[in-house]
Amino acid sequence: MKQTIDLNNKTIFVTGAAGFIGSNLVKRLFKETKGASIVGIDNMNDYYDVSLKEFRLQELDKAQPEDTSYIFIRGDIADKATIDSVFKQYHPHVVVNLAAQAGVRYSITNPDAYIQSNLIGFYNILEACRNYPVEHLVYASSSSVYGSNKKVPYSTEDKVDNPVSLYAATKKSNELMAHAYSKLYNIPSTGLRFFTVYGPAGRPDMAYFMFTNKLLRGDTIQIFNYGNCMRDFTYVDDIVEGVVRIMQGAPTKQMGEDGLPLPPYSIYNIGNNNPENLLNFVDILQQELTRAKVLPEDYDFDAHKQLVPMQPGDVPTTYADTSALEQDFGFKPSTSLRDGLRAFAEWYATFYSNTSPNQ
Ligand SMILES: NC(=O)c1ccc[n+]([C@@H]2O[C@H](COP(=O)([O-])OP(=O)(O)OC[C@H]3O[C@@H](n4cnc5c(N)ncnc54)[C@H](O)[C@@H]3O)[C@@H](O)[C@H]2O)c1
Repeated sequence: MKQTIDLNNKTIFVTGAAGFIGSNLVKRLFKETKGASIVGIDNMNDYYDVSLKEFRLQELDKAQPEDTSYIFIRGDIADKATIDSVFKQYHPHVVVNLAAQAGVRYSITNPDAYIQSNLIGFYNILEACRNYPVEHLVYASSSSVYGSNKKVPYSTEDKVDNPVSLYAATKKSNELMAHAYSKLYNIPSTGLRFFTVYGPAGRPDMAYFMFTNKLLRGDTIQIFNYGNCMRDFTYVDDIVEGVVRIMQGAPTKQMGEDGLPLPPYSIYNIGNNNPENLLNFVDILQQELTRAKVLPEDYDFDAHKQLVPMQPGDVPTTYADTSALEQDFGFKPSTSLRDGLRAFAEWYATFYSNTSPNQ
């Protein structure tokens, strides 16, 4: 059962608002809501090229409608005083926590960033939701919580106690922390396990973007597990559609037989439910990069590809069971890899028409 939330005239707090998914979400909320006040926060860290984050903020400036207030705060969610003052000042009705240190491989060399942003930062958000009650806390988890589970598609009913990276462990911890706060303080919370999100102005640390940069430089791209990987690639507009729908349906508050609240707590997968083989994905990417004139017609792709073994922390397959999302919110991602990579390649061609990528 869901409690319907009308987002019009509400205050919505989005963390990670200069990030890939966060900025797309804010842009969509500009279109979707009337009279809303949106507050965004981002610490603009340099985990990847900051000019992409600045570009996304400029796009938001251009897209902001007159009847929507938008305040952007440059700040860190790991700083408790900052988060407390945001909640004290704006009293958000709905919170969407997307700020996090993302990436599986980086967590092997830079574990501190994950503890700060993903654990301390998320704890600060939970504490603030406890002190300044909200109608719905929505937060990003990740498909990486499924670790090396063999059973596919991955269902939110499956056991996820065997993370294979610190990143995955922090995301699973977020789900556990949210459960405790939902139970103790009756905070409606929904965790979203996103599956490999891609699209225009995406993250340069992810394969499709990194491959493009490398091919353009004439470097060789490495295809892990000799190409025997399946990924459920999900286009960013589908992710945002799912998030906006879910924001409007909070788990219902209910009393248990013991007179204490049952935790108003949910978890959903948002993935394409249609995994693609990595080699097929690289093939489509090549075709779309050529079509968008990012790379020339006669580019020798075979000379720039190397099949290599599996990387630590990586998993061979991701595949989302989206039946709960379909049942509860009537939605299932549907953008094809070709359409999504075409949008990425076209954006890339325009964005880097005068400059070279920094990574
Ligand atoms: N993109 C994907 O494929 C994917 C898959 C699964 C889960 N996720 C999760 O979705 C969320 C958004 O991911 P994204 O792809 O947009 O990543 P992103 O890195 O583009 O966005 C995250 C934003 O948060 C900001 N940030 C990081 N730590 C912060 C802190 N301590 N305080 C304030 N701001 C901080 C960063 O500057 C960045 O702009 C993350 O929680 C990520 O873990 C993403």
